Amino acid sequence: MENPEAIIIGSDHAGYALKEFIKAYLTGLGLAVEDCGAMSEASIDYPDIGLKVAQKVAADAGRRGILICGTGIGMSIAANRVKNVRAALCNELFSAALSRRHNDANILAMGGRVIGTELAKEIVRVWLNTPFEGGRHQRRIDKLDRI
Ligand code: RB5
Repeated sequence: MENPEAIIIGSDHAGYALKEFIKAYLTGLGLAVEDCGAMSEASIDYPDIGLKVAQKVAADAGRRGILICGTGIGMSIAANRVKNVRAALCNELFSAALSRRHNDANILAMGGRVIGTELAKEIVRVWLNTPFEGGRHQRRIDKLDRI
């Protein structure tokens, strides 16, 4: 049975190792994770997994997703094509915090070939724990929704 609280996670082959690491980190914190693949380092196209995760996140306000490919770029482009998804590519901590405070990002994208595991773990921790500020930022998100 699906856990509505679960963090939806996905990667392509280039992000697989980091996905597995982050999945273990999150489950170690007692958080539920729903894994949409990849399930190995066999080559797989990032739009396929990006779409899967994005659709699940978009279907449920408050849902959070994490997408990892080689750079994080392809995954963020793919996910942002789904309405109501605000995917933020964050390979450093400042963007991770601001993507939550100002953009209410509901998907975090990272590059498995760009950052190491410890930085990725810290980015995920900050991203999951930083609240949206609302106010003028909500007005801007409302405008995004009308694009
Ligand atoms: C796969 O080689 C690579 O292109 C992909 O993981 C990603 O970095 C695309 O943006």
